Amino acid sequence: MTLSDTVSLPEIVQSQAAQAQAELFELLRIPSVSADPAHRGDMQRAAEYLQAKLTALGFAARIDATAGHPLVYAEHLHAPGAPTVLIYGHYDVQPEAPLEMWHTPPFEPTIRDGRIYARGATDDKGQAYAHVRGVQALQGLGALPVNLKFLLEGEEEIGSPNLEAYLRAHIAELKADAVVISDGSRFAPDVPTVTYGLRGLSYVEVNVTGANRDLHSGSYGGAAPNPIAALATIIARLKDDQGRVTIPGFYDGIEPLTNEERAIWAALPHDDAEFAASIGATALPGEAGYTTLERLWGRPTLDVNGIWGGYQGEGSKTVIASKAGAKISMRLVPGQDPERITKAIQAYIPTIAPEGAQVEVTAMHGGQPVKIDLDNPYVRAAGRALSRVYGKAPSYTRGGGSIPIVSAFRELLQAPVVLVDFGLNADAPHSPNESFAVADYHNGILTSAYLLQEIAEVEEHG
Ligand code: BES
Ligand code: MN
Ligand code: MN
Repeated sequence: MTLSDTVSLPEIVQSQAAQAQAELFELLRIPSVSADPAHRGDMQRAAEYLQAKLTALGFAARIDATAGHPLVYAEHLHAPGAPTVLIYGHYDVQPEAPLEMWHTPPFEPTIRDGRIYARGATDDKGQAYAHVRGVQALQGLGALPVNLKFLLEGEEEIGSPNLEAYLRAHIAELKADAVVISDGSRFAPDVPTVTYGLRGLSYVEVNVTGANRDLHSGSYGGAAPNPIAALATIIARLKDDQGRVTIPGFYDGIEPLTNEERAIWAALPHDDAEFAASIGATALPGEAGYTTLERLWGRPTLDVNGIWGGYQGEGSKTVIASKAGAKISMRLVPGQDPERITKAIQAYIPTIAPEGAQVEVTAMHGGQPVKIDLDNPYVRAAGRALSRVYGKAPSYTRGGGSIPIVSAFRELLQAPVVLVDFGLNADAPHSPNESFAVADYHNGILTSAYLLQEIAEVEEHG
């Protein structure tokens, strides 16, 4: 009699729950903020934590330096003849600011109402670590049924600037039959989800200069160029009154949504009023002619992410600023190329800038949009795994966010990508009080274990 005759995976996951939570807490306590150079040491510590854990699970695990933050690569290749799975995730997190909005400190994980509150709880430490614990659960049954590789990077939240070069340099080593990623959101609490699309990204910073110094607004107002007003004009001109982006060529080449896809999305349990209420908004402004889900998943958009300029201290100061600036992101859909879009906005902004505004548009980072073909055995394996966990078949939905490296996985490794998400948008990733439901963490661990079992049954692999 083997162990697997006596215990089931859900029982193992349950019996390991306290340990799984304690380990995630340790990881969450490390403030691995990739955007902030002050956290370099924390990036290394987080990588070391993951390396040590994977080593303890029997993986050959190492930390590879990059031009930026290190990544963790680990492999466990002891299932001859079985498929090979590459699991990707990221251990870096977004900055915690604004700190005063957190109810408990961002890097002191705390449980309230069945949720783990911490920066990175859902994005992506909790979801990525669910796979690590999924492996441990499976090992409770016996030998791993697949060959497994982990690639956990520390630069996703800053656009993965060094990962594509790493992939290119390690193509043979990273070769896999499928890439599994859990770094997004399922559609709703009671809707298990396989995600088949992500938007791409083009991100620029706009700097506007007026005069060569801040000026007395009485002595110069009415004659001197005002860069803040100019920036406001520029931003206002980037979209028309139909919510369409005005950059020439912006919509060129976009794959139109099919009627079939629109019908499927329309049948999902989405309610605009509820959605607006969930974020405390009074309206959902966007591109005319498209539903909210279409605008979030299947249409590009442009948003101002930050803006600065002029006097912001107490009281008033009569001054015309010399400089103003803004950060602008554009979410892209299949058919749009981030580089082309970045060049298009760089060419366009000077043409809509008011007289006297000297503008500079700097490219920050970008990422390719992806739409994933659902017709492959690994996606079907994910569907079966989710059905086993949630007792119902998953919905197939797209996401509005971006994971820049996904298209490179598909192109360089030529492997299907399976996006199976454990979190929710309501977990508030990137926001203050980010959280991850304890139940979602546990379901993620179980899903990961079942998924690897289901993939082990896939026959037509390379
Ligand atoms: N996990 C997100 C991506 C995501 C969010 C996918 C929601 C699906 C739904 C990821 O960590 C992220 O935040 N990506 C950035 C990419 C950027 C920094 C290059 C994003 O989307 O803003
Ligand atoms: Mn993420
Ligand atoms: Mn993120």
